[in-house]
Amino acid sequence: MSRLRADDLTLAYDKRVVASELGVTIPDGSFTVIVGPNACGKSTLLKAFARVLKPSRGAVYLDGEVIASYRSKEVARRLGLLPQTSIAPSGITVGDLVARGRYPHQGLLRQWSVDDEKVVNEVMARTGVAELAGRLVDELSGGQRQRVWLAMVLAQRTSLLLLDEPTTFLDIAHQVEVLDLCAELHERDGYTLVAVLHDLNQACRYASHMIALRPGGVVAAEGHPIDIVTADLVEDVFGLRCRVVDDPETGTPLIVPLARTSARVST
Ligand SMILES: Nc1ncnc2c1ncn2[C@@H]1O[C@H](COP(=O)(O)OP(=O)(O)OP(=O)(O)O)[C@@H](O)[C@H]1O
Ligand SMILES: [Mg+2]
Repeated sequence: MSRLRADDLTLAYDKRVVASELGVTIPDGSFTVIVGPNACGKSTLLKAFARVLKPSRGAVYLDGEVIASYRSKEVARRLGLLPQTSIAPSGITVGDLVARGRYPHQGLLRQWSVDDEKVVNEVMARTGVAELAGRLVDELSGGQRQRVWLAMVLAQRTSLLLLDEPTTFLDIAHQVEVLDLCAELHERDGYTLVAVLHDLNQACRYASHMIALRPGGVVAAEGHPIDIVTADLVEDVFGLRCRVVDDPETGTPLIVPLARTSARVST
């Protein structure tokens, strides 16, 4: 029995149906990466998994119960969502925004504690934003802001994390840093991660389980990247012709798009 699964989902915004008959199970303890072309429904699926979007048919099950049956604070104690775009309340500082991640753990009788302070400091250090604590979120660069949001989600301390493009806006070194942090949470702390990534080569390196979605939210393939990523799959899902070679560092699939003939450098 997996902690998170979607059963026979139809996902729609008013009358626009994004996906139908979609069934996805997230293996416990996996680093699941969802890939697929723009507008195929990746963010929509993540929103349904986090109960932000109500399916028009079917259900999402979290820890054995239909997710709709939980109170929202209870959902936030069990899973964290980093949305693709978020807007911070204006005038809020980095420290205060990250501290909001502790909200699901507070109540009338349980206010801000030393433990909350410890968690906030730790996640800010791990995401490299500790020195930004006093700055206004509005005044940060795109990459700084992305890491602050990630810190806020980590402050929730949920062992189930849904991350929608956690590496956007980040330079290549920070991309690797954030993905390494995810890998550590997955390997060392036993977290279950579901991330949407656009960089297929990074997806192949980090995913223990990959879900490739076609337009219309159709699952084209799922499994370990080594078992499913082929040139045919990439062409089928993205309409891109490529070669798949072994990543010289990791041996995982490395996607090399075919060059325009005229763009090849002759040797
Ligand atoms: N709030 C909304 N209202 C109406 N339609 C929406 C809304 N959000 C997304 N859509 C539509 O639903 C479809 C799927 O969008 P979604 O954001 O899930 O795509 P995605 O796979 O995450 O794409 P990307 O890679 O560009 O982030 C798209 O056609 C999009 O235009
Ligand atoms: Mg998206």
